[in-house]
Amino acid sequence: MKLAAKFVCLVLALCLKYVTPLDNGVARMPPMGWLAWERFRCVTDCKTFPDDCISEKLFKDMADRMAADGWRDVGYQYINIDDCWMARERDDQGRLYADPERFPSGIQGLANYIHSKGLKLGIYEDYGSLTCGGYPGSQGHEATDAQTFAEWGVDMLKFDGCYSNDSSKAIGYPLMSAALNKTGRPIVYSCSWPAYEGGLPPKVNYTELGEICNLWRNYGDIQDSWDSIIDIIEWWAVNQDVLVSAAGPGRWNDPDMLIVGDYSLSIGQCQAQFGMWAMMAAPLFMSNDLRHLEKEKMAILQNQGIIAVSQDKLGVQGKRYVKKNGIQAWSRPLSEGHFAVAILSTRTDGTPTKVTFTLNELNIKQATSYALYDLFEMKTVGKFLNKDLIVTYVNPNGIKMFRASPVSMEIIEEFDVWLNL
Ligand code: GLA
Repeated sequence: MKLAAKFVCLVLALCLKYVTPLDNGVARMPPMGWLAWERFRCVTDCKTFPDDCISEKLFKDMADRMAADGWRDVGYQYINIDDCWMARERDDQGRLYADPERFPSGIQGLANYIHSKGLKLGIYEDYGSLTCGGYPGSQGHEATDAQTFAEWGVDMLKFDGCYSNDSSKAIGYPLMSAALNKTGRPIVYSCSWPAYEGGLPPKVNYTELGEICNLWRNYGDIQDSWDSIIDIIEWWAVNQDVLVSAAGPGRWNDPDMLIVGDYSLSIGQCQAQFGMWAMMAAPLFMSNDLRHLEKEKMAILQNQGIIAVSQDKLGVQGKRYVKKNGIQAWSRPLSEGHFAVAILSTRTDGTPTKVTFTLNELNIKQATSYALYDLFEMKTVGKFLNKDLIVTYVNPNGIKMFRASPVSMEIIEEFDVWLNL
């Protein structure tokens, strides 16, 4: 009997070992940093575009700004290279290396520089025969590439999926996960796999993904437009039942980069993207030019109340509860009984819209009363029973975000409250 029990325990332990989620200890909260792609694409002509081309100068400049302008201090940590960093061929030993003209110190030199600023370095590869930009892919070189990245001191890998088919991806993504783990270096593993499979079950198995990747792109590439943001948010809301249960500490859905600070968004739209990415527990990777960023946009991206929502240790993704007449209302459970609330407007009629809601409607009812703090205005707006009508005004293509904190009943009277924000 004793022996049989031991045997069962052993089998169970082995099974658990096999299904244990990727346990590299990283990305317990959605990672924050900067990623080159959306803003800097595949510009490789450094003679014509010395400041904007994909080169070690670009990443060093961003690291300098990250350290000097307060980004690192509020939680941004990763400086991530995207496509087009490599030489066109592997070296004699079959190893990848950076384009020597654009990266004269090599990736290892760049990693040292970035680490010296108290930051981390991310890199890009692709499982296929080529990267999306046509540079050498990892297929057949997984172990070598993982080892190379680890030796260089890389801290994160975005692993893209161009130039490979569905069945080879199903082999390649777990293979790279194992290869990264084997290096012994904690490397955040970002998988683009689900985005290539339509992002939904049954084609995408989120349980498996959570076991091998720390984050994953579910959907198409973000572009520099409000339409692109709204399209992504809509997809997240429509598929929230699948997505919310897929996410948690160490495994995140990734709706792609933040475009705050780029060409297209108004200040209100910048608040909306940043706020909604925090609601969705999304990785926060800015893709902008930190050397030229308007003060107001910088303040949005460094808003510590919103960052606290994003980085909340409960790690539960928010959900949409209301969508009506161009207004949507979301809530996200936070630790210690707190909640984040977002009221998002996609309306275009020129004046702010009056919105009335109750906390009950947003599934905020564990406590009977809550204090509401406006996260962009940075002020307390009142105390409410969860059935009280709360009125707020939301700008066209704008957002209102609140933190709801449970408060004691005594100080709450039953009343309808009008917020004059
Ligand atoms: C794909 C990815 C983008 C970017 C490019 C680079 O389109 O989804 O995020 O990495 O490839 O070529």
